[in-house]
Amino acid sequence: MPVSSRTSLPQATAADSMRVALTVLAPNVARGVILRRRPMVALAAKVDADRHASRLLRRLRTRYGTGPLWIDVLGRRALLLLDAEHVGRVLAETPQPFTPANREKHAALAHFQPHGVLISRDTERDERRRFNETVLEADRPAHHEAAAFLAKTREEVAALLGEVDATGRLTWQRFHPAFWRVVRRVVLGDAARDDHQVTDLLDKLRSDANWAYFHPGRGRLRERFARGLSAHLERAEEGSLAARLAATPSTDGTRPQGQVPHWLFAFDAAAIAAFRALALLATHPRQRGLVRAELDGRDPASVPDLVSAVYLRACVLESVRLWPTTLALLRDSTAPTEWGGSHVPQGTPFLILTSFFQRDPALPYADAFTPEVWLDGRADANWALAPFSRGPGHCPGQNLVLLVTTALLAELVRQRDYQLAEPSDLDPGRPLPHTLDHFALDFRVTPAR
Ligand code: HEM
Repeated sequence: MPVSSRTSLPQATAADSMRVALTVLAPNVARGVILRRRPMVALAAKVDADRHASRLLRRLRTRYGTGPLWIDVLGRRALLLLDAEHVGRVLAETPQPFTPANREKHAALAHFQPHGVLISRDTERDERRRFNETVLEADRPAHHEAAAFLAKTREEVAALLGEVDATGRLTWQRFHPAFWRVVRRVVLGDAARDDHQVTDLLDKLRSDANWAYFHPGRGRLRERFARGLSAHLERAEEGSLAARLAATPSTDGTRPQGQVPHWLFAFDAAAIAAFRALALLATHPRQRGLVRAELDGRDPASVPDLVSAVYLRACVLESVRLWPTTLALLRDSTAPTEWGGSHVPQGTPFLILTSFFQRDPALPYADAFTPEVWLDGRADANWALAPFSRGPGHCPGQNLVLLVTTALLAELVRQRDYQLAEPSDLDPGRPLPHTLDHFALDFRVTPAR
């Protein structure tokens, strides 16, 4: 086995590093790490790019052992994690010595959220993390504003279904704008419902962010976006996150408004997760039956009833296990670290490919829609199943995401039946594809029987 001259950790050959660059990194970068590019997502799904990436990593694990494995990509020497326990360690030891504010991530996210917690370090990070946890109420399944959020979601689903009934079809083109209306109302307040401009500006900045440091950045555009956002946040409208933001104490380093671009950006992943969960439910009668049975007799307007719909919640978690929206977790080490007696220098990037672990064929449920794993402790016990990350850097928006997406799915599933016309390969009798093009999902919708 080739061994690095600097440490005894294995070193991938130049050919294997090139394979990682071409099979793992290139398809992820091409798809758009920050804002998905539709044609590239379609192509990735067509060739099931994530299956190839995972297969390559398995081959590397067979060849080099459990690593971590040194690879040389894009002029950087990085450690590729191949072992679930190593993932657990890196996530548990975040932000020190493994900072989420990794160099490449910083280059990308700084285009639209230069003050976001995810790319902050040291005391600024601590302060911004505390602020995010407080406003998003990270530890509570039901946010204090949950009743308002639920009402907004139900209204938007009613409007969406009104549109859908005209054609009997539900596509991403219909679903996505409706989801954004929910997001703008939840985050910024009802008055922002139809302000497409503010989220369109964010999309432009996210599209620049896809290029990371290869794009010079557009300062004026970022200022325009910040002004639009600020106008909404200053209203601090009751029943929105903007109100909680205004009421939460902060210091000079917190930059409260600077946290909001991440929230809006990350809600896009929630839209994808929810739409894919609907595709899973449309194609899996057993799980759909369990969701319907769970919703039966519950009050659609009741927050406690919604929060106790744990099976539906698990369906959303399963959607992001099967098709993680965060394709890779990146960390840079802020201090030297030891790996089985090997010394790894400060400043080393660590790369965790989420779908490699979440679809590990060693898991009996790897390629099957199995919400049960989120209810019986199997998923919780495995830190490599980390669609919302884990440990001190885990997603503080997870509970809020699950609240809003379950509210939305509960309404959709209660009121209509869905048949998935495209794609045709989501079948309980077959392993699910590793790559799913959410843009292409196309449902036939009929009144619920
Ligand atoms: C399906 C939807 C979402 C998924 C799968 C998700 C997943 C994640 C993951 C994996 C991370 C860690 C990223 C890393 O370490 O590089 C993260 C961080 C974060 N997420 Fe989410 N997220 C979602 C939606 C949201 C939403 C809607 C919000 C806010 C309203 C949010 C707020 C945050 C924040 C503030 C961080 C940074 C935490 C830190 O650095 O300490 N997320 N999320």
